[in-house]
Amino acid sequence: MTLEEKVALCHAQSKFSSAGVPRLGIPELWMSDGPHGVRAEINWNDWGYANWTNDSITAFPALTCLAATWNPEMSAKYGKAIGEEARYREKDVLLGPGVNIYRTPMNGRNFEYMGEDPYLAGVMCVPYIQELQKNGVAACVKHYALNNQELWRGHIDVHLSDRALHEIYLPAFKAAVEEGGAWSIMGAYNQIRGQHACHNDWALNKILKGDWQFDGCVITDWGGAHDTYEAAVNGLDIEMGSYTNGLTSESAFTYDDYYLAAPYLKLLKEGKVPMSTIDDKASRILRLIFRTAMNRQKPYGSVCTDEHYAAAREIGNEGIVLMKNAPVEKKGAPLLPIAAGHYRNILVVGDNAVRLLNQGGGSSELKVKDMVSPLDGLRALYGDKVSYAQGYVAGRPMYGYADEIPASVTDSLRAEAVEMAKQADLVVLVGGLNKNHFQDCEGGDRLTYGLPFGQNELIEALLDVNKNLVLVLLSGNAVEMPWVSRVPAIVQGWYLGSMGGHSLADMLSGAVNPSGKLPFSFPAKLTDCGAHAFGELSYPGDSIRQEYKEDILVGYRWHDTKKIPALFPFGHGLSYTTFAYGKPQASAKAMPANGALTLTVTVKNTGRVAGKEIVQLYVGDDKCSVLRPLKELKHFAKVALEPGEEKEVTFTLTAADLKFYDEASSAWKYEPGKFKAYVCASSTDVRGTVAFEAE
Ligand code: GLC
Repeated sequence: MTLEEKVALCHAQSKFSSAGVPRLGIPELWMSDGPHGVRAEINWNDWGYANWTNDSITAFPALTCLAATWNPEMSAKYGKAIGEEARYREKDVLLGPGVNIYRTPMNGRNFEYMGEDPYLAGVMCVPYIQELQKNGVAACVKHYALNNQELWRGHIDVHLSDRALHEIYLPAFKAAVEEGGAWSIMGAYNQIRGQHACHNDWALNKILKGDWQFDGCVITDWGGAHDTYEAAVNGLDIEMGSYTNGLTSESAFTYDDYYLAAPYLKLLKEGKVPMSTIDDKASRILRLIFRTAMNRQKPYGSVCTDEHYAAAREIGNEGIVLMKNAPVEKKGAPLLPIAAGHYRNILVVGDNAVRLLNQGGGSSELKVKDMVSPLDGLRALYGDKVSYAQGYVAGRPMYGYADEIPASVTDSLRAEAVEMAKQADLVVLVGGLNKNHFQDCEGGDRLTYGLPFGQNELIEALLDVNKNLVLVLLSGNAVEMPWVSRVPAIVQGWYLGSMGGHSLADMLSGAVNPSGKLPFSFPAKLTDCGAHAFGELSYPGDSIRQEYKEDILVGYRWHDTKKIPALFPFGHGLSYTTFAYGKPQASAKAMPANGALTLTVTVKNTGRVAGKEIVQLYVGDDKCSVLRPLKELKHFAKVALEPGEEKEVTFTLTAADLKFYDEASSAWKYEPGKFKAYVCASSTDVRGTVAFEAE
């Protein structure tokens, strides 16, 4: 290859493709969003849609829902199905999954990520990556790293401790590379300790390509490159989306003006950057092309198949979380599941019952072939027993816009729903957030922690006339719940994609017993969240710099250690059955320095219906030379149990589970001493503990 051909590999040649080497028969690389499905075709050279007629696909549940399944098998199903759809759409790189940590409920893009705990996010992203890549489609794990909010995302300079980096924000990316074998990583827009993430020497050369031995490509987020010299020497491989319109005829900028285009070629020719940099980039890019576009083993793809729809439905079924399920009358039965014969008139309320939530949200938005809404799903099950009132309206599903809804509209919709609720036996309100700007949407953070568009007033008004209210929240974020004591049944329904209406109906009807658990905490109020306990510099920053002052105490780590209980804790989720845990047993009283300790616990289904329980194992270091969270998730297992069935769950603890990141030695440190293992049904529902000595 000539030097010019090598440099051409390193930058975009269109909005979503980078060059190959035509002279040598090496094809270009085609990339596409997103983490939940293959985005509709974008124009060659602007952000508009090409309006093809053959690019409608399956929308899979958002990744918060996948994380909420706590089931790696669902992750594998997800990766296989989305990989087949990406292959069918002839994409070589799928821009996902996203594994940024849920640090604040105000982050507009949490719905695309996998929660607040690095271990859960790591375990749940690996099978997705492995199965996706078996289709000859590269995962592009994003956004590396510290893109934990959308406000000022393009430049905010994040500062934090080494411990917070290594214990909280890097582990999921590390798992994606070392266990998932990710073929590409997307650099984040923000800065890390003063240097842009897309060409950050420490993050890319030292950690990713050094410590983790990553052999794939670093691709910028679109417009994430800002400096040719840094991009040349600090580990960036492919520059995408820099703000040009690409074609020479329309502006001063062209693809040849990209940082890693003519300016880079110039530095190479002048000897101002080593030739080794271009040879390393070119080798990595060719390896990516050989693994994808030139991979002769890749299978045929497929879209919108029964298998893919079944996978989407099953992932939704396993991810929906039953947060609360109380009886309405003192001695009555819990409101869910809906006993079909019990009700003559089921009123479904809410904009989200009919809103196609595949649209909006930013780059993860999708053009679907089918999309079953919650109302469709409930009508399919309960037929003409179901009536509908909008109740509230959220405006257009548009990226970058936020509609102001006139109070008169909100009031009249609410009045109509209340009138209808007076005649109903059961009310199912499908609300939550949506994919508008300042909601669950890329490019901006939420402006309030509470539900928008008058939903709080609607909930109270409906309860005033009908106590039999089931609240279904479709969102990717926690919300404030001033009405929580009055609402008998609360379901966290996520963004469920093409089969969402069926998944919700499956769960509400009891056809499926819910088994999802929360991948993030629901603080009662925003200031109960660690990211919001230290003023503006901690969140959202001062518009230039930001300091993660809660440090390692993110999510339940904060709630547990500071004794500020969350309204609904990390790992919480109810079932239509009950589970009893036996007393956990340890294989020994002490764990040898380089040995292991096994913990066994029995779990029994003590109810009348089959169900799945997620057994969580946390570890706490009772006495340590540094501050550590009260306990941290180290293992989990999801077990299926028939009524009356009992199974034994075994966990193996090793030294790695006990270490903390030691800043003095810049290494993980094993400190002998007293530890406690917590066997839990949630981060606060402790079913048994075992004290042990680490020798
Ligand atoms: C966006 C997003 C990124 C996406 C890329 C291409 O700005 O941050 O997640 O994959 O650009 O659309």
